[in-house]
Amino acid sequence: MQTEVIRVTGNKENDREAMAKAGRIIRKGGLVAIPTETVYGLAGDALNPVSASKIYRAKGRPSDNPLIVHIAKREALKEIVREIPDAAVLLADRFWPGPLTMIFRKNEKVPYETTGGLETVAVRMPSHPVSLEFIRAAGGFIAAPSANRSGRPSCTTAAHVKEDLDGKIELILDGGPVGIGLESTIIDLTEKTPCLLRPGYIDLKMLREILGEVAVDPAIEVGLSQEVHPKAPGMKYRHYAPKGELTIVKGAPEKVAACINGLTQRDEEAGKRAAVITSTENAGRYHCSIVFPVGSEKDEEEIARNLFSVLRRADEVKADVIYSEAFNDTGIGMAIMNRLGKAAGHKIIETD
Ligand code: TXA
Ligand code: MG
Repeated sequence: MQTEVIRVTGNKENDREAMAKAGRIIRKGGLVAIPTETVYGLAGDALNPVSASKIYRAKGRPSDNPLIVHIAKREALKEIVREIPDAAVLLADRFWPGPLTMIFRKNEKVPYETTGGLETVAVRMPSHPVSLEFIRAAGGFIAAPSANRSGRPSCTTAAHVKEDLDGKIELILDGGPVGIGLESTIIDLTEKTPCLLRPGYIDLKMLREILGEVAVDPAIEVGLSQEVHPKAPGMKYRHYAPKGELTIVKGAPEKVAACINGLTQRDEEAGKRAAVITSTENAGRYHCSIVFPVGSEKDEEEIARNLFSVLRRADEVKADVIYSEAFNDTGIGMAIMNRLGKAAGHKIIETD
């Protein structure tokens, strides 16, 4: 299959033809990669079981890992869920459209292929103008996992999508680099206490300001052993991982730099290609020949935006080993350290 790439602007008039084409592909059961404000998504018709199985195949993803259903208007929600808890209304008022996914009990309209066999369904209304226009053109209910090959870092540009899915899908809508760079926050509203399943741009403090009590799925705490079973099935897989072996090094900046410099010197002497991921402020501390500054330590949003593309850059330069500083883990930092921790398979060195 030939994968076409069409540049879109988010302007309704300019994009009219591209959207009509994308809509036709989805209605016929095909797949289109689309930009959202978080990461690129691999879109198919959420109500068509055949589309869901095509998504799993294109991504190389296990089919017990459920997909998020994307909608373009609030009224669409009641068409696919059994009940809408009060908490969901409060959260939607505040954060939709936006980077928040909520888990509901599904109704019969949603096929089990889309939910990986679960009785619940994840729903999100994205805020990116291209996503919204596309969802409307494509029938209103779009299943869209992140558009990476299973296990690889999520895609924050159309070029990343092409790297992973060229020849496997009909069309890529190229809307330029995404704004946030990490996948949506996921909150489960099907139990008595709302529970955070995946941290994202909408952080715990923002959720608690609206809902009061919010539990945190024990499996997402950074550095936790792999023994705990996460409630979001996708969070159990090795994920976001570059091909090189990634290790996180924690502690005071001088100690971290001394530790990483020692390790990269040893690795380079052994003929390995080593790379370092660092804040821009600390970049000068490292002697390694490949250093990736990911963003300012004072600007977590910049780090979030660049993290996945830096992990992909480490693959491009064929790094055998990668060392990353640990970053602040509050606010969106919780999401940054969650993804970095998973990418590292939780290999962490404490220098303090
Ligand atoms: O920002 C995002 O959410 C992106 C963009 C494209 O919207 N999508 C995304 O989808 O990250 P994906 O499939 O890569 O991640 C969805 C996560 C998986 O970990 C999956 O297990 C979990 O959501 N999930 C989906 N449905 C669920 C459900 N019913 N119960 C629990 N977890 C669910
Ligand atoms: Mg994903």
